[in-house]
Amino acid sequence: MRILLTGSNGQLGSEFRTLDRSAAEVISTGSRELDLTDEQEIRHFVRDAKPSVIINTAAFSDMDAAERNWDACFALNAMAPVVLAEEAHRLDALLIHYSTDQVFDGSKTEPYLECDRTSPLNVYGASKLAGEQGIASSFARALILRLGWIYSARGENFLRSILRLSRYSNELHVAADQIGAPTSTKAVARATERLVHMYNGSRKTDFPTGIFHLTAQGATTWHGFAETILSMAPAARRPLVTPTETAENASFAKRPRYCLLSCRKFVATFGFELSPWEEQLEEVLHEVRDLNTSWELIGCDEAI
Ligand SMILES: NC(=O)c1ccc[n+]([C@@H]2O[C@H](COP(=O)([O-])OP(=O)(O)OC[C@H]3O[C@@H](n4cnc5c(N)ncnc54)[C@H](OP(=O)(O)O)[C@@H]3O)[C@@H](O)[C@H]2O)c1
Repeated sequence: MRILLTGSNGQLGSEFRTLDRSAAEVISTGSRELDLTDEQEIRHFVRDAKPSVIINTAAFSDMDAAERNWDACFALNAMAPVVLAEEAHRLDALLIHYSTDQVFDGSKTEPYLECDRTSPLNVYGASKLAGEQGIASSFARALILRLGWIYSARGENFLRSILRLSRYSNELHVAADQIGAPTSTKAVARATERLVHMYNGSRKTDFPTGIFHLTAQGATTWHGFAETILSMAPAARRPLVTPTETAENASFAKRPRYCLLSCRKFVATFGFELSPWEEQLEEVLHEVRDLNTSWELIGCDEAI
């Protein structure tokens, strides 16, 4: 099996570096190896590589920057996945693509189902929705996994921001009016690897395709997540974490208040689920500790 991985330097893509490669040859690409805003480059690259599975983790994922760069955002989040899907279809390969809770407007009060009406509030969500729709009309064998609130031990994310800010601040103001399920990229990468194994062992035409929600079990607010991070990271300073409302600012993307996704369809189809968000956080904090040698160094490393 040959896997083409995009976004290999990103939060999610970099998790695939540590996964078992004995069963597959993995062609890892970042933007330097394969520029996904260039349609012809994508087509040539995929035709040369001839993968049997394409895992597309690359994205324009900065929601606020997307408001000012909608053309770059749509090129990466809407055009590229469709071209990848068309090329996957040509090669009879499986495309695994990631989408987002941001395709919804957050007006529900119970977890979103895959069949719920989409209505993105921001450019990023609209571009990811366009990517989903383009993939669906490409006839490719494709699995679209909608994620939400992802973080890892590396990269720019909420966990690392809280650890970094706790070093300098006596009080952090964190939004308590958004609800979601913080999900580690490690858990998503492991689940993806499991899906690839299942695909490899199945009759290709029988393998389930379509949109599936995939997040950690449980729910919290950004405020609850911040408090839990600081309580589980014993050597981090513990500033006061004050609940606030989400700041409204014209230069920020609008965020849905309610971001919980129901993973019932995923569990019923594939027979497994991700662990609760607190367990995932514990595992990632161990990784942060290992990256920083000891808890005492957390916050002393400018990289955090
Ligand atoms: N972050 C979240 O909270 C969140 C939530 C829900 C869903 N998702 C989805 O989950 C997936 C993974 O997100 P992530 O947080 O891991 O993203 P990320 O850390 O921002 O990584 C995205 C990667 O995209 C690559 N990229 C940017 N421009 C490119 C180009 N022109 N050509 C090729 N590659 C390019 C970058 O590669 P280089 O570094 O090599 O330039 C970067 O490493 C995405 O589909 C995202 O939409 C994310």
